[in-house]
Amino acid sequence: MTHASRCLLQTLALSWLAACVLVGCGAATDDASNSSRVYVIKFPHVTAPSTPKGQAANRFKELAEARFPGRVEVEVYPSSQLMNDDDSLEALAFGEIQMIAVSLSKFDRLTPKFQIFDLPFLFTDLAAVERFQGSPTGKLLLTELVDRGFLGLGFWHNGMKHFGGPHPMRQPEDAEGLKFRIMESDVLQAQILAIGGNPQKMPYGEVYHALQTGAIDAQENTWPNIYSTKFYEVQPYFTITNHGYVGYLVAVNPRFWESLPDDLRAGLEEIVAEVTVWTNSRAAAINADNLERIKASGRTEIVSLTSEELTAWRDAVQPVWELFADDIGREIIAAARSDDKR
Ligand code: SIN
Repeated sequence: MTHASRCLLQTLALSWLAACVLVGCGAATDDASNSSRVYVIKFPHVTAPSTPKGQAANRFKELAEARFPGRVEVEVYPSSQLMNDDDSLEALAFGEIQMIAVSLSKFDRLTPKFQIFDLPFLFTDLAAVERFQGSPTGKLLLTELVDRGFLGLGFWHNGMKHFGGPHPMRQPEDAEGLKFRIMESDVLQAQILAIGGNPQKMPYGEVYHALQTGAIDAQENTWPNIYSTKFYEVQPYFTITNHGYVGYLVAVNPRFWESLPDDLRAGLEEIVAEVTVWTNSRAAAINADNLERIKASGRTEIVSLTSEELTAWRDAVQPVWELFADDIGREIIAAARSDDKR
């Protein structure tokens, strides 16, 4: 071996050693580097920090960073600051972000099964939704999309939906001809067509401006979303209908999740479970509180329906169930209805 080759080998060996010190080499140092590695969880969402989802995301961050100091950092981006829901579905599947809580209605193009949550008047209240989500059929939905890049860790509630419009809507006929903003969901599209409206799929972050400019006339949402995004400033009437549900699949990228050390993964799953109980037990109260604040603003009028008027809305949208029953699965609908006393 020449002197030059000896020098080259020595230089390569030294560089390899230096690289090992900096980034860790081989199986023996993998454990050490994993335990000293800081895992960053980017968690964008579209609602305000004050909403049930906003509060739950912040609580997850707080607990995760307190229990695993220096091992995990959770970056929460509220109010569509980083991206809208459609983009976050793609970003999670590609591993560009690590965690989402996207409205179940927006998984429409990934699975028809989540359309169960959009069937109008299927669930009477959040408690009914929760009983279904906690049932064996409901729990199976958490892993429905693992192959598509979404591992569900829990369901978080927002609330029940109500209609808002340019005039009081007491009867389904009052909705005729109105342009309604809806989430990306074919069930919601069929629901609006059933009451004679004109459905427009639109990201959440664009709704306020669309109402303000008259690009749309009407919309449906929960009191926390209506309150925090100030829809009540640009929508003169709301009708209390409780006709649908807004809730979220809290999901992580399965490959990222598998890459976490076992103790960290188990600990974070425990935290999600705790936050799920915490947020879901407060959602109904936040909805009631936000309704009172909207009333107190004096900026809009809240219409309450008689039971006959409510029945007319229910009857008008009932045919939507049959349109989607085979796609969703009749056994899933039956499970959701199993405690229905109507
Ligand atoms: C959300 O609550 O995350 C948004 C719901 C919507 O798009 O209306």
